[in-house]
Amino acid sequence: MELMKALRVYEYGNPGAMRVEQISKPALHPDEILVRVHAASVNPVDWKVCDGVLKDKLPMAMPFIPGGDFAGTVETMGREAAGFRNGMAVFGMTSTPGYRAGAFAEFVAVKAAHIALMPASLTYEEAASVPLAALTAWQAVFDRGGLLAGQRILIHAGAGGVGGFAIQFAREAGAVVTTTTSAGNADYVRELGAADVIDYRAVNFEDVARDFDIVIDLIGGETQARSYAVVKRGGVLVNAWGAIMQDKAEAAGVRGVKVAVEPDGAQLARITALIDAGRVRVSVAKIVGLADCGAALAESRTGHVRGKIVLRVAP
Ligand SMILES: NC(=O)c1ccc[n+]([C@@H]2O[C@H](COP(=O)([O-])OP(=O)(O)OC[C@H]3O[C@@H](n4cnc5c(N)ncnc54)[C@H](OP(=O)(O)O)[C@@H]3O)[C@@H](O)[C@H]2O)c1
Repeated sequence: MELMKALRVYEYGNPGAMRVEQISKPALHPDEILVRVHAASVNPVDWKVCDGVLKDKLPMAMPFIPGGDFAGTVETMGREAAGFRNGMAVFGMTSTPGYRAGAFAEFVAVKAAHIALMPASLTYEEAASVPLAALTAWQAVFDRGGLLAGQRILIHAGAGGVGGFAIQFAREAGAVVTTTTSAGNADYVRELGAADVIDYRAVNFEDVARDFDIVIDLIGGETQARSYAVVKRGGVLVNAWGAIMQDKAEAAGVRGVKVAVEPDGAQLARITALIDAGRVRVSVAKIVGLADCGAALAESRTGHVRGKIVLRVAP
C-alpha cells in the first residue's frame, strides 16, 4: 500500500484532535488526476468546518482531511483524464462536492476540469494562495455581479483573501472600486487598485458612500443589512457568507444573490494569464508547515489576516 502524509481531523472543535499521519494515497478515478501537493492554502471555510460551524450544511465523515486548494505537480493521469502531462505544475480547487476537502495532504485526486497550469511567475506557495479565493472573487464579481466597465463596485473586506482578488479583477475590468478595511490596510488595498477606501472602524460606510452598481459582501450579518442602502435601485448585492436578506433586498429594489464557489479550470487559466502578465498579484501573509495547521486556522479565525496563509506540504 502506498502511503502519504496527511493532516486529519478526528473531532469538531478540538484542535488537539488534528494530527499529521501516514495514510493511503487517494484512490484515482479514471477521469481524475493525482496531484503531488507542494503547498495548500488556508481559507476561512477550513476553520469553520473544523470547528463544526457548518456541520449541518456540510457534515464531514471523521476523520477527514481539510483543505480546499493547492499547487503541485501532476503525478499520475487517470486513463480518461486529459489536458495535462506528468510533471506539469498545476493548481486548483479540490473536487469534493460541498466542502472541498483533501488538500492538506501530499497527494490529492482531482478532476482535470478543475485545475489549470500554475502561473509560471509564481512559486508553489504563491500559487497555492490563489484558487479558492480568486475563483470566489471571479464568480462573485463577474458571474453573480455581472460587472461591466465603468460601473461602481463596493467590495467589503478588501484586505482579505477574496477581497484582494476582487479589487484587482474589478479594476482590471474597468470598474471604479471602493473597499472597506481597517486603517492599517488602507495603503495595501489602494495598491491593489481601490480608488476609495473606507475605514470601517472609524465610519459607517453608508454615511460616506452610496449608489453602487454592485456590492460584494464578504462579511454578512450587520454589514449585509446596512449594504442594501448603498446599492442603486436595480443593482446587485452578492453575498458570500450567511443568507440573503430578501425583505431588505426587495425594499431597496436590489437583487440579492449568493455566491458558492465552484472549481473551474477555465477561469483559473484566465487568472493564470492575468498573473503572468503582471496584471494581478498575490499576497502571501505567511507560510507555515502542515504541522502548524492548527495555529494557521486560529489565525484565520481572527478574521484579520491580510492576504493568505499558506501551508507548505512538500519539504
Ligand atoms: N460562499 C463562498 O463560496 C465563499 C468562498 C470563499 C470565502 N467565503 C467567505 O467569505 C468570507 C471572506 O473570505 P476571505 O477568504 O476573504 O476571508 P479572510 O481572508 O479571512 O478576510 C480577512 C479580512 O477581512 C477584513 N475584515 C474583517 N472584518 C471586516 C469588516 N467588518 N469590514 C471590512 N473588512 C473586514 C480584515 O481586514 P482588517 O484586518 O483590516 O479588518 C481581513 O483582511 C469568509 O466568511 C469566507 O468563509 C465564502
